[in-house]
Amino acid sequence: MPVNRRRFIQGSTGLSAIGAIGFMQNRYCLAAKKKESSAVPDLDTPLFIATWPFGKASCEAAVKVTRQGGSMVDAIEQGIWVTEADVKNASVGIGGIPNAAGQVELDACIMTGPDHNAGSVGGIQDVLHPISVARMVMEKTPHVMLVGDGAKQFAIDNGVSPTQLLTDNQQKRWQDWKKQQSAEKPKIDEDHHDTIAMLGLDSKGDLYGGCSTSGWGYKIPGRIGDSPIIGSGLYVDNKVGAAGATGLGENVMRHCGSFLVVEMMRHGATPTEACQQAIQRIAELDPKNLDNLDINFIALNKQGVYGAAGTSQGFKYSMADPRQSKVLTAKALSEKSIGPEGGNRK
Ligand code: GLY
Repeated sequence: MPVNRRRFIQGSTGLSAIGAIGFMQNRYCLAAKKKESSAVPDLDTPLFIATWPFGKASCEAAVKVTRQGGSMVDAIEQGIWVTEADVKNASVGIGGIPNAAGQVELDACIMTGPDHNAGSVGGIQDVLHPISVARMVMEKTPHVMLVGDGAKQFAIDNGVSPTQLLTDNQQKRWQDWKKQQSAEKPKIDEDHHDTIAMLGLDSKGDLYGGCSTSGWGYKIPGRIGDSPIIGSGLYVDNKVGAAGATGLGENVMRHCGSFLVVEMMRHGATPTEACQQAIQRIAELDPKNLDNLDINFIALNKQGVYGAAGTSQGFKYSMADPRQSKVLTAKALSEKSIGPEGGNRK
């Protein structure tokens, strides 16, 4: 086991004890404890949360990046790399479910609280790390979003080598899927979508976020979901908090979902309440009933309180800080279950 990892796990033991006495969900308490004793080192920031159990490895990697001297933007980017590079994850990056034409099209965005800056890419192909291209858009251009071939060319022009993203497994599954489809219109399986959204808070109270997905499986080519849309799949307001979304993007982007969650926090809601209230608002406006919306939010406020909620039972999310990492179950607004893995990743 690498030394850093061993230290991380050893460090988590102490925090588990704190968790056992009920401080884990209340970071106000941790902050208060810190002020009480100057001997307690500042071990509870940076803090990262991310969608789904697979987000735990990304959060842990993000903490490690900061420990090694990386910035919070580096941490968000490189944390998300872990999920993007996982060929077994069918909803993000390489190994993602392709579109109806058998091409893997990726969406990603990144946002920084202190300067309220953002970058994003939509429908980009042949790029292993769309989150990095989103960062390049943010840092190297006057734009916020690039899509399709333009985004890919921009990536290549900035030194990114094209990568084959369609794995043999997904190619075979796409061929099987295609045989079952009508010639007129691709049938889209509602289960085939998912995302990593990741939020971070540093010791200065600054917030950051990133989001990456291969989107709706077997989508119509050119379809872009909520994930690269600032305010839908991700939003960071450095005065208030940050939020990210996963699930059926169409039901998030019609409501500016992540922006809505942050606005709920601005008006006094806790992160969990804000996610719940946003889903309730969406359900009131949306012709679909709550069971069929299939949307989930995570949220983190400027004080380090975090939470999540989803329409259906079973949405899980992850967190890590220098003392611990874990997977948590989000509040659900309906009785319907999304499955033991918390997912819609086929
Ligand atoms: N939430 C990811 C998507 O719908 O594309």
